[in-house]
Amino acid sequence: MSDQRANLEWRDGAIPVSTRFDDPYFSLDNGLAETRHVFLQGNDLPERFVPGFHIAELGFGTGLNFLTTWAAWEGAGVDGPLRFTSFEGFPMSADEMARALEAFPELAPYAARLVSAWGEDPTLATLEGVEARVVIGDARETLAKQDFVADAWFLDGFSPAKNPELWDADLMAEVGRHTKPGGSAATYTAAGFVRRGLDAAGFDVTRVPGFGRKRHMSVARKRG
Ligand SMILES: C[S@@+](CC[C@H](N)C(=O)[O-])C[C@H]1O[C@@H](n2cnc3c(N)ncnc32)[C@H](O)[C@@H]1O
Repeated sequence: MSDQRANLEWRDGAIPVSTRFDDPYFSLDNGLAETRHVFLQGNDLPERFVPGFHIAELGFGTGLNFLTTWAAWEGAGVDGPLRFTSFEGFPMSADEMARALEAFPELAPYAARLVSAWGEDPTLATLEGVEARVVIGDARETLAKQDFVADAWFLDGFSPAKNPELWDADLMAEVGRHTKPGGSAATYTAAGFVRRGLDAAGFDVTRVPGFGRKRHMSVARKRG
């Protein structure tokens, strides 16, 4: 990776599209509802929230999934910290993030805190109120070096056809190694090679109805 910035263009002036991967960062229909359907419901959240619950994510992007989860955590009134670890290889600027998140006014108070912390340090070392961390770099190199085990994973690379490196079997094996027995993973895709990779990584994988026009997505439970 020589040039590690996000390269963006804006669809309808509001939706960031990666020119590197030729794919939008969130659903053109309703990004917030899709995040809730795929990543929260797909991992049985907020029902499984307990103090210290640890979510990990491939692809931090605009932070939409993170903010949606943070708001759900506070809404659930859990008495303790949320842990959220995400991986991002091509970080956008704070201005780009702020512009992208304008599409979600109900998240505005959270977005302001995220953008401010991101502008200081994209690892989110200065963000208060949640134990969040973004590991900057290629997830194929950085995940193996981490020693956490997550309760739930959000697998949110760009589409597997356009960003296959974020879905390959070796990386799914690392996801499996970084998941508690009985832990979960969810993704908007039902691509066969992704499901096979998750199965080989120790998950039981199920196809369930996707969001909006997408017929299927995948949910996975770590055997164990
Ligand atoms: C669909 S976007 C993620 C959207 C994000 N979850 C959100 O809430 O806005 C996919 C992300 O994966 C990142 N990505 C792609 N390949 C990567 C890699 N090899 N390592 C780390 N991040 C990568 C992209 O830069 C992009 O931010």
